[in-house]
Amino acid sequence: AQTPPEAAFAIPGSGSLREHARAHGLLAGAAVNIQLLASDQIYARVLAEQYNILVAENAMKWSALRPAADKYAFEQGDALVSFAESHQIKVRGHNFVWHEALPDWFSATVTKDNAKQFLVDHIMAVGGHYKGKIHSWDVVNEAVLPKDGRPDGLRKSPWMELLGPDYIDTAFRTARQADPHALLTYNEYGVEYDNDEDAERRAVTLQLLRRMKSANVPIDAVGIQSHIKAGSPFTIGRGLQDYMASLRQMGLKILVTELDVNEDDLPYDDVAQRDHAIAETYRNYLSIVLAEPSVTAVLTWGVSDSHTWLNSGPTHHKKQPDRPQRALLFDDAYQPKEAFFAIRDSFDNRKSGRL
Ligand code: G3I
Repeated sequence: AQTPPEAAFAIPGSGSLREHARAHGLLAGAAVNIQLLASDQIYARVLAEQYNILVAENAMKWSALRPAADKYAFEQGDALVSFAESHQIKVRGHNFVWHEALPDWFSATVTKDNAKQFLVDHIMAVGGHYKGKIHSWDVVNEAVLPKDGRPDGLRKSPWMELLGPDYIDTAFRTARQADPHALLTYNEYGVEYDNDEDAERRAVTLQLLRRMKSANVPIDAVGIQSHIKAGSPFTIGRGLQDYMASLRQMGLKILVTELDVNEDDLPYDDVAQRDHAIAETYRNYLSIVLAEPSVTAVLTWGVSDSHTWLNSGPTHHKKQPDRPQRALLFDDAYQPKEAFFAIRDSFDNRKSGRL
């Protein structure tokens, strides 16, 4: 939807997320859809106005970067980096190693014998191409999955099957070599709630991080993806607070990397009621997270409801399959919603120590 230019900037300059974030030592960001960046000038201006860090939603994954086993395609990633550089905005890299978004040729081409070479070559080529331009790389994404049954609680991903758990060490060591300037980050979901599943995922993640530290594997930061839910039966509190304190004690920075609010569980349809519940979910979450001094960045996974990943993909598991989610800070006309002001207030409240 195209809005009149002036309407989309109701909160430019001093009212922007990034100015309120910057005032409190924080980076405020969002995941970017590169196709929109090229085609929608309102979207591009909101990105330029509101954020001081950006990450490619898909453009720096293997599926986007690697059209063939012997080819790299940097055009999309370069479009984000040059846009960001022209607006003095930092860029996160996402991601070097993941079990999803692997190109179609991967499974038929990569074997136990050549997997390490593919991993090292990819990280050296991509990390080298963007050397000095990346604030932080999600070196390994989502390596934890206790229900896969491994004693170490790690996911039986293609990389694990091909290389064993050392793939993680190899990835981080190679990333440090490829770009010594980037903060090397381990990124994970499902560590936010006070429930048994998230508690186990937190414990497994900490165990992995401790093993890495004791093996002198270079790592600087941990991403808490923060895909949270409005109306969740579970609380967010002590478990996350203790997890973040443990990360701080290990000398790790903390980034909120993919924040959004899934509202599928809300039992009512009224938009104002839903927007209020979503805003309060953001406010409550950030009051806990921003009380942790090691948290240095908050990125939402997208900008407007018209492009949230939550409204794409299969709907069979959704309670409200016909109700587009209002998960993000801007509506589909790029107007700021109650959630925008809830996040901006959360940045302000951090400074005064008010929770
Ligand atoms: O670009 C192709 C298009 O050419 C093709 O016609 C179309 C139909 O198959 O697919 C398009 O690619 C899709 C891509 O998004 C771009 O829209 C992929 O199918 C689709 O799987 C991909 O989904 C992304 C997903 O990660 C998997 O990579 C979502 O947009 C993205 O929001 C989501 O983000 C992940 C984070 O990277 C990691 N944490 C969880 C988060 C949510 O799942």
